[in-house]
Amino acid sequence: MTQTNDPFLSFRKMRLAGQVIHDPAIGKWFVIGADESRQVLHNADDFPVIDAERMDETQPGWRRSRGEAHKYSLLPFINPPSHTRLRRLIARDLTVRKVELLRPLIERETDRALDELAAQGRDGTPADYLGLVAYPVTVAVIGALVGVPPEDWRTFRAWSDCLVMLTDPRITEEEKARADKAAEDFETYVEELVAERRVTPRDDLISDYLAVRDHDPEQLTDAELCNSVLLLVLAGYVTTADSLGNAMHALLSHPDQFQQLVEDPSLVGDVVDEVLRWASPVQIVQRTAAKDVSLGGVDLPAESTVLVMPGAANRDSNGCPHADDFDISRKAGYGLAFGAGIHFCLGMALAKVELTTVLGRFAARFPEARFASRPVRRESAGLAGYATLDVIIS
Ligand code: HEM
Repeated sequence: MTQTNDPFLSFRKMRLAGQVIHDPAIGKWFVIGADESRQVLHNADDFPVIDAERMDETQPGWRRSRGEAHKYSLLPFINPPSHTRLRRLIARDLTVRKVELLRPLIERETDRALDELAAQGRDGTPADYLGLVAYPVTVAVIGALVGVPPEDWRTFRAWSDCLVMLTDPRITEEEKARADKAAEDFETYVEELVAERRVTPRDDLISDYLAVRDHDPEQLTDAELCNSVLLLVLAGYVTTADSLGNAMHALLSHPDQFQQLVEDPSLVGDVVDEVLRWASPVQIVQRTAAKDVSLGGVDLPAESTVLVMPGAANRDSNGCPHADDFDISRKAGYGLAFGAGIHFCLGMALAKVELTTVLGRFAARFPEARFASRPVRRESAGLAGYATLDVIIS
């Protein structure tokens, strides 16, 4: 099924210009080569993230935007040493062992969502896979982990939808205003939730962070506590929901490979890796050059803004032959889908359990699944995912 506004098609055209490309219109450098992307991400000294301090130097007045102020207080936009301290803290709750404790919840939420899909898709009626499965499962898991009550999941999804627009370099003034409002409402909500947990602790991340905060306030300030909760809600489900959508698109547009999964459920891990490589949701990871550097034979002056594109790097045929082909037997891994280096994704273990559970159970229950109509991509340069993806399941 052919796609409109497919970012992966435009990478092919970009690559004709090289692996490191200057865009004079926005004054930034795109890095689309796999080797060059790794070089940037693994070298945090030469390529730190653009943080609040640097924004103060280069764009005075930027703090007036609540959305931007919010974005630059989150872990992916902080450099060491604060990054090291905060990352250690967040990582404690996302280890493989901790994620295993969430497996029964993930399985329960998946079965519940697939029941809903089966009910809507009865008698061949088109069923809304994103709305009934991809979003509800991922929102429920992160909501339960962090400690957001289920009745509020819908609201925080609406806020985070506005906030992820901040990852898109083409963001409009109207979208910026909506993100500012969402940041304000979201922050107030999290502050209230934290205050509530202070009185009545539960078995969730907010209560855990509060215990750390009370034990040693130097380890975690009040603001950092709220920001860490916000980050996990934001980072924790949009990318995973997009990956579930991208996976369904990949499988149903390659029915032979979907059938292989139906016949051999043990392939689900390979399917997930290949989906993440072939259709990485995160499209842009931003860094800056700390000094004059040479990258892939191109000279970048100090202070250059560098936009690494994991989705494009994963389609680089250097080291991954026929990279544009979706092939679950290739065993090339997930490439740079989760980033690399000191900011490597902390949620990979959780995302993988969610993806394998949903895709494995979907294939077992709906072996005849196919598209009901052409899936529509969401308009966003920052994240690759679908706005609609309806399926026929029987
Ligand atoms: C398939 C799903 C996911 C994908 C593709 C993904 C991708 C990424 C990428 C590319 C980065 C690196 C950003 C950078 O280098 O600037 C990142 C960072 C991060 N991710 Fe994920 N992510 C996913 C799911 C999750 C989940 C489920 C969580 C949490 C529960 C999570 C939490 C984080 C955090 C906290 C960071 C920041 C790490 C740091 O700056 O040190 N992610 N993710």
